[in-house]
Amino acid sequence: MFEGSDSEKISMEDEINRVKTGIPGFDELCGGGIIRDRSYLVSGTSGAGKTNFSVQYIYNGITKYGENGIIVATEERPEQIRENVMKFDWDLQALEDEGKLVIIDACSTKIGIPSQEKYVDVRPFDTRSMMDQIIATQEEINAKRALIDSTTSISFYLQDPAKIRVELLKLSTTLEVIGLTSLMTCEIVDERSPARFGIETFVTDGTFVLHYAMHNNVRTRTMEIFKMRGSDHSKKLHPYDITSEGFVIHPHEEVYTSF
Ligand SMILES: Nc1ncnc2c1ncn2[C@@H]1O[C@H](COP(=O)(O)OP(=O)(O)O)[C@@H](O)[C@H]1O
Ligand SMILES: [Mg+2]
Repeated sequence: MFEGSDSEKISMEDEINRVKTGIPGFDELCGGGIIRDRSYLVSGTSGAGKTNFSVQYIYNGITKYGENGIIVATEERPEQIRENVMKFDWDLQALEDEGKLVIIDACSTKIGIPSQEKYVDVRPFDTRSMMDQIIATQEEINAKRALIDSTTSISFYLQDPAKIRVELLKLSTTLEVIGLTSLMTCEIVDERSPARFGIETFVTDGTFVLHYAMHNNVRTRTMEIFKMRGSDHSKKLHPYDITSEGFVIHPHEEVYTSF
């Protein structure tokens, strides 16, 4: 399989309960999918594709694997997320109407504008309030997957890395305990560091980094599984594209570069 793996390890991995992302090219890079009831960080600079990747995970969960999902939108209003992914023909509103998806608006209150949404987090910087809302929603629609997009505004609000670490750990642990397999996005500014505040990778079970960087005057998109607890995974940089059908990773191509 991947460098450093042996047959014993692979057979052990077969027994792990995997959650398929269904993102073309991704699951085969990490033993068939992410591990059930764990939380993962999706890091990248602005425009790298974190929201597309993560919404695709939720959308595929509902449409391909029968697993309902929750999206907590802290950076964009739910309306913007719905509109942005319509270009891939993903009709989130229809899934919401069917009771398979809930998008919690944790953005409007933060910026002080009224929200027409059914699900609104009125205390968006309070992780306890966010967790309570996720727990209630999970019971309502029997969700199995969640997305927090993103953790960066919560971290900016808390400022202190020790506090950020505790709050994000509470959040990721709560999601795991209630049976949600989750992605949390994290906006970075430096391609060489997978976390904005230096600690976000410690509180999640894995980190996927989307690099969108200039090399020889060309901006290239590459993905790296930086960390994945309890699983073998590719250690290489793999190119990806955002196409009219969404995110596509090229698992058999590698990119050699240094950031
Ligand atoms: N239909 C499309 N075809 C190609 N690229 C697209 C398409 N839609 C969006 N993109 C790319 O996706 C980027 C935004 O992705 P997004 O997931 O919102 O980034 P992030 O959340 O990391 O800031 C855009 O800057 C654009 O380059
Ligand atoms: Mg985004």
